[in-house]
Amino acid sequence: MKTISIINLKGGVAKTISSANMAHILAVIHNKRVLLVDNDKQGNSSKMFGVHSYNEPSVAEIMTIRGINVEEVIAPTQYKNLDLIPANMTLLKANLEVMLDTTRPQQTRFRTALRSIAGEYDYCIIDNAPDINISTINALVASDDVLIPIKIDKFAFDGLAELKEQIDNTREDLNPELCLKGCFITSYQNNEVNKQGKEWLINQNEYPVFDTHIRRTEKVDESTFATTPIIEYSKRCGAAKDYLKFVEEYLNK
Ligand SMILES: Nc1ncnc2c1ncn2[C@@H]1O[C@H](COP(=O)(O)OP(=O)(O)OP(=O)(O)O)[C@@H](O)[C@H]1O
Ligand SMILES: [Mg+2]
Repeated sequence: MKTISIINLKGGVAKTISSANMAHILAVIHNKRVLLVDNDKQGNSSKMFGVHSYNEPSVAEIMTIRGINVEEVIAPTQYKNLDLIPANMTLLKANLEVMLDTTRPQQTRFRTALRSIAGEYDYCIIDNAPDINISTINALVASDDVLIPIKIDKFAFDGLAELKEQIDNTREDLNPELCLKGCFITSYQNNEVNKQGKEWLINQNEYPVFDTHIRRTEKVDESTFATTPIIEYSKRCGAAKDYLKFVEEYLNK
């Protein structure tokens, strides 16, 4: 199983849209067995696939319960090959609990849990919160690859250095295989600001950059109301075509 963290300290840059659609495309188009992990108390990925609930175990239990049977936390989605570990607001308390519990390792709980089901999936995609906290550190420790969605605006590159530092520290201390696969631009518009932002990204040498950017289209907002992945909601819109291309580029990278 290859585990991918989709992460950025900034909010609203399409971490969830990218995680949900990448997971769906890998499962439905590429016929891979995919596990999507919602690692954000907002539970947006869970809501996208209709599995947000307070009656079922969630990622919070994976953080706090020793020896948990991960199978019991995994929820099926309506799509073949695509399962999900949901999240809800209980993750807030769970994070505090982990921080206070020094009796066992705090940063490797995801890794231990995901290893137990690694034979059952080809890909695990982790949708992270806009933060560096014990949950996101657990995600980085459990990951092989990191993808950073970036939405171009004045603040687009804020926090990138801090995120890179966290990735480098994780690689050094706990996960030597961790690979920063690259940044990709989301909500791309054909205007000067976006062209210059993309050019800046391509010309710096700190972060690899994907050729494919994801075009902005209101169909994406609509798809969240319809709780339907973009290639099913509007196959011909720019974002649908771009996410298909982006997944191809990732698989070939
Ligand atoms: N390509 C796109 N075109 C238009 N709107 C988009 C596109 N991608 C994302 N959006 C919109 O941007 C908003 C933020 O997206 P999303 O929830 O995926 O971001 P996020 O990074 O997960 O946010 P958070 O940090 O709160 O978890 C949503 O309203 C979504 O519909
Ligand atoms: Mg999100």
